[in-house]
Amino acid sequence: MTDNTMKLLVIGAGGREHAIAWRLTQSQRVTKVYVAPGNGGTAQAERMENLPLHRNEDLVAFAKDHDIAFAVVGPEAPLAQGVVDAFRAAGLRIFGPTQAAARLESSKEYAKDFMLRHGIDTASYQSFTDAQAAKDYVTKQGAPIVIKADGLAAGKGVVVAETLEQAHAAIDSMLDAGEFGQAGARVVIEEFLEGEEASFIVLCDGQNVLPMATSQDHKRLLDGDQGPNTGGMGAYSPAPIVSPTLHNRIMREIIYPTVQGMAREGIPYTGFLYAGLMIGEGPDNTRPIKLLEYNCRMGDPEAQPIMLRLKSDLSEIFEQALDGQLDQATIDWDRRAALGVVMASAGYPEQPRTGDIIQPLPENQEDRMIFHAGTSLNEGVLQTSGGRVLCVTALGDSLRRAQEAAYATAAQVHFEGKQFRSDIGWRALKG
Ligand code: AMP
Ligand code: GLY
Repeated sequence: MTDNTMKLLVIGAGGREHAIAWRLTQSQRVTKVYVAPGNGGTAQAERMENLPLHRNEDLVAFAKDHDIAFAVVGPEAPLAQGVVDAFRAAGLRIFGPTQAAARLESSKEYAKDFMLRHGIDTASYQSFTDAQAAKDYVTKQGAPIVIKADGLAAGKGVVVAETLEQAHAAIDSMLDAGEFGQAGARVVIEEFLEGEEASFIVLCDGQNVLPMATSQDHKRLLDGDQGPNTGGMGAYSPAPIVSPTLHNRIMREIIYPTVQGMAREGIPYTGFLYAGLMIGEGPDNTRPIKLLEYNCRMGDPEAQPIMLRLKSDLSEIFEQALDGQLDQATIDWDRRAALGVVMASAGYPEQPRTGDIIQPLPENQEDRMIFHAGTSLNEGVLQTSGGRVLCVTALGDSLRRAQEAAYATAAQVHFEGKQFRSDIGWRALKG
């Protein structure tokens, strides 16, 4: 803990990874954060450097050769590809779940079976590989109903079908037309749940749990939570719906049974664990809390407001997690609220256009950060290179103030075809 020249590695290329890397560079102990492969924002940031590396063996070799103190994995894909296993096999430190543990996200069927085994409340469901059997089931259940590709589909493999026709079409596109490839070769069909969603994210060391500040994202493309599902169009922290009573219940009913269940099954869970919850109506001590899904990572864009509010030294917290000592960790949050607005490219989510030039961005400040996602720096010119381009994130004395500050900055961001919602935070702010 006395090392003041730590070099770290963050794996990923999105806004979440920019936010984690940025928070790590705020530590006095950290001299450099490599980001693999990174984006146009991490390419320019102080004390960060991008690495054009993707394969496990290349990342392992780099970490070995460059004396990396530890690595942190942002997205699910490298986790599902076993990057944590590869680092550990080489005797290197890395924060994230093993490939086996990451199945909580990479297979919806595995996750649902796990919830059932451990008494964790979730929507009732059945899984299918045969399209006709799946259609017979939805016809019997009726609409609305939810159709999910079993594997990873970048947040887009879920169709909330309002009608039986939509449900049948979703089944056809996943099982027959192979829209999501192998990820959609099996579908999980589940009961439609009503309520308000919340993201609950914790750090785990295999045994102990440290909750992050609460947050909530907006998954739909358009204002009023309309339009297609996306990876997330904005997020804020804290999420007022998660009262102290609900916080305790979520830990007791969802998080501890998960971490203890994984340990008992011989797959101790290390890394960020994200529970996507649906919270029904009623008084807080009895309202239903159902688990929609696990993610084996932080949320994106939830990580951006959460990282802006984090006051503790993140490098120390990761070390405590790597040492199995999260029971001794404390974490301090800025009392202010934070809100992030995603600025997406033309055509997102179906067919994001790339290559649009991004005009010079407003300077970052203590209470305002523009985290990059789908950007690249080409000969000094910043361009769009993906669907979600930037996440403009600001602190404020209240959520309303944070929202005003984020939108005031968003108004100064210019690139052709930009899309963003104008109502991030509305559920928390409505009367
Ligand atoms: P998931 O990737 O499983 O979180 O699903 C993406 C989004 O679809 C969620 O954030 C919800 O908005 C919606 N969703 C998923 N499952 C259900 C369900 N059983 N009932 C209602 N909405 C759902
Ligand atoms: N924002 C939702 C997710 O990261 O899955």
